[in-house]
Amino acid sequence: MTTPNFVKDFREAAPYIDYLRGKTLVIGIASSMLENPVLHSLASDINLLASLGVKIVLVHGSRRQINALSETAGIVPQYHGGRRITDEATLIRAKQACGMIRFDIEAALAVGIAHSPQRGKRLRIACGNFVSARPFGIIDGIDMGYTGRVRKIDADAIQQRLDAGAVALISPLGASLSGKTFNLSMADIAEAAAIALKAEKLIFVVEPEGIMDEDGLLIPNLSANEARGLLENGRIQPNQRRLVQSALTAVENQVQRVHVLSGLEDGSLMSELFTREGTGTSFSQAPFMSIRQAGSSDIADIISLIRPLEEAGILLKRSREYLENHIREFFVLEHDRQIYGCVALKMFEEEQAAELACLVVSPNAQDGGYGELLLEHVVRETRARRLHKLFALSTHTGDWFIERGFQTASPEELPNERRQEYEESKRRSKIFMMPLE
Ligand code: ACO
Repeated sequence: MTTPNFVKDFREAAPYIDYLRGKTLVIGIASSMLENPVLHSLASDINLLASLGVKIVLVHGSRRQINALSETAGIVPQYHGGRRITDEATLIRAKQACGMIRFDIEAALAVGIAHSPQRGKRLRIACGNFVSARPFGIIDGIDMGYTGRVRKIDADAIQQRLDAGAVALISPLGASLSGKTFNLSMADIAEAAAIALKAEKLIFVVEPEGIMDEDGLLIPNLSANEARGLLENGRIQPNQRRLVQSALTAVENQVQRVHVLSGLEDGSLMSELFTREGTGTSFSQAPFMSIRQAGSSDIADIISLIRPLEEAGILLKRSREYLENHIREFFVLEHDRQIYGCVALKMFEEEQAAELACLVVSPNAQDGGYGELLLEHVVRETRARRLHKLFALSTHTGDWFIERGFQTASPEELPNERRQEYEESKRRSKIFMMPLE
């Protein structure tokens, strides 16, 4: 007997499975995520993705393993500007670390998906000289030694392997034209590979939940502009700057989406790819489209979006004064400096719930997926605040919510304060709820 949740989840995943088939994903795995049990659970998800026809490029980190080998040899790691200074002795450890990691990944991927028809089926893994390097050089008077930059990614060679059904596995080392080996960064390679391959998505699997702000709180969504702002104003955890820079460069160069998520959360990769909620931080691709928190300068635009619907009885009336007092609850969807949609998100922290309200897309922009993007945005915001349910009250748009994973709910399921308001109101809206575990 299948459970209703299984059926619901499978239905939700089906369109994503269809959409990802044949698409290229570049997955950068931080060195701290390459030990068991995390590596095994990641490998089983990667196996499953490959079996669904997703083309996968894996780039692994090696920082932790190089440090461990260096420590055993009594070498103290040296850094400048967050990058390792690679002397000859460290380069030897970098090569050793990459060799070990590569075989650990191959071994983890060799395990079929337990109890599934995939068991016994072999996944092909292709490694090779896909990356050429050049020296990082002397920075602020410091010779970075064998630390290098990506010179070129051989996208044709990788593509051939992907088209032949293999997973491409890239280690953070590259040879220069002068025949020297350079120690590279996982993020640099993953970014360059995603751009060169015109990948659909670039995913960084790291230890933290995603990109964290200066107070250590998860930032669920970042547009290119917001990411640029974070780098400029420094309101970000210092050790995540390079990751944000790589994500930004990728979205500015036609990679559709970049995600940063935690490998410690079992199944995070799958929920990012196959559920609407996703996990971690998502960087949006379109440079001219962004969803951002509204400010008082957006009130006039919000009013022109919502007034016709208030008059038609589809939305509850909200005065200008109300909007002025509650503007921080609103998000607006902006494209090319025009506002095309809005949504409000009201938190009921004590009852671990949030209300989605006032969702509107301008009539001339409807049916283009903006409504879906606004919904995705508030679902992420809600999850980032660790609230367990998102609800919406609607008189006319119930089917739209149901088709996107909401279920009908009773007034008893509303937060107390909201329930009272609901019972006093004569609108008799229907209640829709999305559980967010
Ligand atoms: N009921 C069911 N399906 C609907 C409805 C509806 N009322 N309105 C649009 N759809 C369908 C479209 O027919 C289309 O279906 P298709 O993909 O099969 O062709 C699909 O939804 C379009 O989806 P998106 O492109 O993601 O959505 P869009 O950007 O058009 O925005 C929205 C959807 C916000 C509902 C928009 O139609 C709108 O602004 N409607 C008027 C305002 C409204 O009803 N807002 C909800 C109020 S309730 C609340 O905020 C809690």
